[in-house]
Amino acid sequence: MRALVMTAPSEGPDRTEVREVEAPRPGPGEVTIDVTHAGINFLDVMARRGDAGYVSAWPHTPGKEVAGTVREVGEDVSGLVVGQRVAAFTPGAGGLAEVALAPAALTVPIPDAVPSAVAAATPLMLTTALLLLTDAARFSPGETVLVHSASGGVGGAVARLVPALGGGRLIGTVGRADKVAAAKESGYDVVVSRDGDVAEAIRASGGAVDVVLDPQGTALLETDLAVTAPGGRIVLFGNAGGGQAAPLPDLQRLRAGNIAVAGFSISSLAVTAPERVARALRRLLDLIADGRLTVPVTEVGSLAEVPEIHQRLAEGRGTGKYVVRVAGS
Ligand SMILES: NC(=O)c1ccc[n+]([C@@H]2O[C@H](COP(=O)([O-])OP(=O)(O)OC[C@H]3O[C@@H](n4cnc5c(N)ncnc54)[C@H](OP(=O)(O)O)[C@@H]3O)[C@@H](O)[C@H]2O)c1
Repeated sequence: MRALVMTAPSEGPDRTEVREVEAPRPGPGEVTIDVTHAGINFLDVMARRGDAGYVSAWPHTPGKEVAGTVREVGEDVSGLVVGQRVAAFTPGAGGLAEVALAPAALTVPIPDAVPSAVAAATPLMLTTALLLLTDAARFSPGETVLVHSASGGVGGAVARLVPALGGGRLIGTVGRADKVAAAKESGYDVVVSRDGDVAEAIRASGGAVDVVLDPQGTALLETDLAVTAPGGRIVLFGNAGGGQAAPLPDLQRLRAGNIAVAGFSISSLAVTAPERVARALRRLLDLIADGRLTVPVTEVGSLAEVPEIHQRLAEGRGTGKYVVRVAGS
């Protein structure tokens, strides 16, 4: 089969290529999937850079979310049959390939009404957005949510999910002024470009926020603390810049501010509580099938085009969500 292979860590696309490799076979509790579509994510870029904890060995095939049909079912798997259309989270990566290996516990049937290209954006991107809001931040309808990197995949997904969860006020920040329009289009009420006094701009837009979803390590934590209302929850869920994280704020500051700081990792949750990830994935596919959630994706025509998309994401030039068509590519 063909797979996208990263041969060594790199800041650019030079060490990524499409190669012929051996197709995986399922072990107990696993399935293999003939991939029709796979999600492209910033996590692939973090793997490409060689960020600690993202790659266990080189060469590495990235990709953590796929849609396709079940190819083979391992021992001890029930409820999934060969040929069934499924979406899956692939915690060990390997999704950007013609055949992917996934735990059966993280593989979910796709309702007929959901196109595979959209389903492929669900296991990592949308599931992360939903679990950030519901599990990690305990979002309640009517609350104000601040999201950094608002014009990206997860940022856009949060904006589309908040109305489906009862509605709230949405504030986004973006790294460059030319991304303001994309964030507004996905549903943000207020979008702030981070080239001025961000905390002041957020406060001026209408007061403190209840929930902060922050994928920027600790780089924006001072801003988060400055704009969070008493009872607010700040969820740290990434390290886009890749640098060393600063220490968390001291207890007295959190206690006096009545502020909670939490962490979130879907990759860890997929190992420790896969049923929560699968439940969220099923809920999202049902929301899409019922027309209560719309998820626009940009479809890329072949695996060979993915290194350029990775580079676009690495340079912060991406907007929205990219999915690659793998079958027949
Ligand atoms: N914890 C989890 O379970 C989990 C799961 C999925 C994704 N994530 C994280 O969520 C974030 C969004 O993911 P995505 O797939 O939606 O990515 P995306 O669409 O590519 O968005 C990533 C954004 O990060 C910012 N960025 C890119 N390069 C950067 C750099 N070198 N330094 C600082 N900021 C940079 C850019 O936004 P601005 O310049 O506008 O800020 C970019 O739009 C990523 O950081 C990813 O690692 C975490």
